[in-house]
Amino acid sequence: MANLDAGKSGTFKIGGDIEINRLGFGAMRITGRGIWGPPADHDEAIRTLKRLPEIGVDFIDTADSYGPDVSERLIREALHPYDDVVVATKAGLTRSGPDIWAPNGRPDYLRGQAKKSLEKLGVEQIDLWQLHRIDPKVPRDEQFAAVKSLLDDGTVRHAGLSEVSIEEIEAASKVFKVATVQNRYNLIDRTSEDVLDYCGQHGIGFIPWFPLAAGDLARPGSILDRIAKAHGASPSQIALAWVLKRSPVMLPIPGTSKVAHLEENVAAVDIDLSDEDFAALDREGKKAFGAA
Ligand SMILES: NC(=O)c1ccc[n+]([C@@H]2O[C@H](COP(=O)([O-])OP(=O)(O)OC[C@H]3O[C@@H](n4cnc5c(N)ncnc54)[C@H](OP(=O)(O)O)[C@@H]3O)[C@@H](O)[C@H]2O)c1
Repeated sequence: MANLDAGKSGTFKIGGDIEINRLGFGAMRITGRGIWGPPADHDEAIRTLKRLPEIGVDFIDTADSYGPDVSERLIREALHPYDDVVVATKAGLTRSGPDIWAPNGRPDYLRGQAKKSLEKLGVEQIDLWQLHRIDPKVPRDEQFAAVKSLLDDGTVRHAGLSEVSIEEIEAASKVFKVATVQNRYNLIDRTSEDVLDYCGQHGIGFIPWFPLAAGDLARPGSILDRIAKAHGASPSQIALAWVLKRSPVMLPIPGTSKVAHLEENVAAVDIDLSDEDFAALDREGKKAFGAA
């Protein structure tokens, strides 16, 4: 795979001024089972991270809660001082064990976690910091005000939200400029279709998590399977190519702990889906979502 280049996915400017290649990397999977503790293979995780800039992946998504702290620290170990790499992180979810996540949106907690991320990543400013969840136990305007304060004091350059509705984006936008939205989205999970369209209309980057999911559409004989075979590609590569073609504000962050999987995912940028194949996948994906 000599000519891998995530730059072929096109570019997007976060907050209008930080240009990245649209196909990024999710750094949640470089941790232990249940997104807890160190990865099973530390050296392979480091190799995976170091491979990113070599193949044009210049946007990494992480969070304080991945590990916790493990993902941010590994990114620093592999890539500091981040020449030509943008690292986005988040806070707002606390951890007490494998697969356990609990929101904490208290303003002092959010501010403290953002400052800790500065230290862990070894930067003076975080390019993109995202509120991982709006905590239902804390008035949302207090959480938005905390985000604004981080922008105002320069701790973070741009700010985003995660798992939000249009109404929540609009409420937050009254307090600070929402640069990105990170919601679960893929060929067969179209819950956030309206949010994606809203982001497209407002120049907000839409970061779909779990972008590789193809579910039953990947079964032998399915339309996705047929299109994948025609392209000599895997179903997950086609799912990624479809997501990339869906919108110019789409910034997928497929996650892996392995160089081979990273390279396979980045190779999806070379797949040129025809409009007919795109539309057929769209139809089948919506049908599968409706049936789920
Ligand atoms: N905002 C949120 O609430 C939220 C929630 C979840 C995730 N995220 C972010 O979104 C990113 C992506 O989400 P995700 O990791 O859940 O979903 P994903 O990227 O769609 O899938 C990742 C899974 O697929 C496997 N995989 C990746 N490439 C593969 C390949 N080429 N062949 C076979 N298996 C492959 C990975 O295992 P291997 O390590 O074995 O490759 C991993 O188990 C995360 O890293 C994180 O940054 C955000």
